[in-house]
Amino acid sequence: MNVLGVNCYLHDSSVALIQDDRLVFAAEEERFSRIKKDARFPRLAIKAALDHAGLTFNALDAIAFGWNRGGITPLHTLIAELTGRLAPSPMMLVDSLIAGTRELYHGNGRRALQRGFPVTPGQRLLFVDHHDAHAWSTYVLSGFEDALVLVVDGRGARQATSLYHGRDGGVRRLRTINWPNSLGSFYEAFTDLLGFERHGDEWKVMGLAAYGEPTHDLSGTLRIVPGGYRLDAHLVLGRHWNDISRLEAVFGPRRDPEKLITDADRSLAASVQKATEAAIFELVRDGVRRTGCRRLCLAGGVAMNSKANGRLLASELVDDVFVQPAATDDGTAVGAALAAHAALGQPVPRYRLRDVYLGPEFSGPELEAVLRTYKLSATRVVDVERQVAGLLADGRIVGWFQGRMEFGPRALGSRSILADARRAEMRDRVNECVKFREAWRPFAPSCLEESASEYFERCHDAAFMTLTFDVVPSRRAEIPAVTHADNTARVQTVNRETNPRYWTLIHEFEKLTGTPVILNTSFNLRGEPIVCTPRDAIRTFYSSGLDFLVMGDFMIAKDRAWEPRTALSREKALV
Ligand SMILES: [Fe+2]
Repeated sequence: MNVLGVNCYLHDSSVALIQDDRLVFAAEEERFSRIKKDARFPRLAIKAALDHAGLTFNALDAIAFGWNRGGITPLHTLIAELTGRLAPSPMMLVDSLIAGTRELYHGNGRRALQRGFPVTPGQRLLFVDHHDAHAWSTYVLSGFEDALVLVVDGRGARQATSLYHGRDGGVRRLRTINWPNSLGSFYEAFTDLLGFERHGDEWKVMGLAAYGEPTHDLSGTLRIVPGGYRLDAHLVLGRHWNDISRLEAVFGPRRDPEKLITDADRSLAASVQKATEAAIFELVRDGVRRTGCRRLCLAGGVAMNSKANGRLLASELVDDVFVQPAATDDGTAVGAALAAHAALGQPVPRYRLRDVYLGPEFSGPELEAVLRTYKLSATRVVDVERQVAGLLADGRIVGWFQGRMEFGPRALGSRSILADARRAEMRDRVNECVKFREAWRPFAPSCLEESASEYFERCHDAAFMTLTFDVVPSRRAEIPAVTHADNTARVQTVNRETNPRYWTLIHEFEKLTGTPVILNTSFNLRGEPIVCTPRDAIRTFYSSGLDFLVMGDFMIAKDRAWEPRTALSREKALV
């Protein structure tokens, strides 16, 4: 049974391929098209999935889309306006009509699919409710038998928040909070007000929150009510759902992105984060009451709030938390494929997702061919982990390109930029030389799983950087480059089996320095998607201040005088 899940037209277009009982491939279209957050039909990602599995399109039994709104959206918006939950506005109506027309044109993806990949009569096309797709994507891969499932995003077809009970390999919806009463829209609007990109920069607000005190009372905007929250949509969404003029009237004008961040901005960010956490806690409290489950699965854009997730895990409210690593809409491709399995009467695969190395990979000969094409001088070594550990300890910044590309927004040791977590200055150096991003934004650590609890409070298994933990007080000075202003860190625990090469690298670093933690950030330039191919990696390497590029066993240095540490490891591969 081959089922392809597809997500497209909103953000983060993606595909997922499930063969029999395993998720065998998943990737976002942006990695192939090189357009950040590409929302178009994922033609290139579908091709990559089929190539990976050695399938033709005809071999797919079913194709499932993580969206099924079928004209409901404009109608729902109209109802929201007529019932006074949103101020009537011609702009919003026009926008709804355009969205509806686009929907008709695209036929929920059917037409685009048939243009590129002719669907045969035997192939099933399924359209899965958006929040259902989110829920499937997290419950099934959590490995939990009985779980509370919470989906929170800006907006599904019409839902903003949905609560499910996951049991017996399926999810049952218990409760829905409809848009415009949306926690995601609340966070987006304040992200916009704080001078960031409304869609995609929400985590900058989360990062900024650590520097401020939550002095604003936002209860007039987002009120916590028993079992959930109540958003003043009239204020937050304005005349149009991207309009913050009413918020500006209350909180002051939108921050000029070119200007320095002030204490007032920090305090507003902290207040937004605090209000969001209070709403999430209330939703979870309600869910635990309804289901009796103390294991929680999260998905939806708001589930990318690692700070809130970490607080939940540390709280008395739940015993365990699983966050779908691709919690935003990219993960709905996975959920749609899983829901399709169930709808077709097939046994739904169920297991704990251990890693997200689900994208394309490139063999040694393929890497060598690219290096030769570009006439690059590279050295092939037999102990690449030990070599790189030495470079990091010496303060070098390394582009690390290994194995299969990660699915989801985080680089987890396949397409990563690495540096020494012990050196406080690395935060600024990586920012200035490579990422060209805001200096205050934190970098995350990768830590050997075996040592995680020695460095991060109550941290054992956090493979996907979806949870934030407090850094153990006695360790804060040891790893300053990855300890945030509020003494937390968004940790990746590295497992020896799921990524042996990355584990060995950190282990070698520990042997040299005594610290089993390194700085890990995604391998991309500001505003670009994470690199996918060796060509992307080479272009990024030479467009930045990276010192080394390491692809497979090949090492490329900008310093021409560089030599590997040991003669044993040296084999001049290319000149
Ligand atoms: Fe979503």
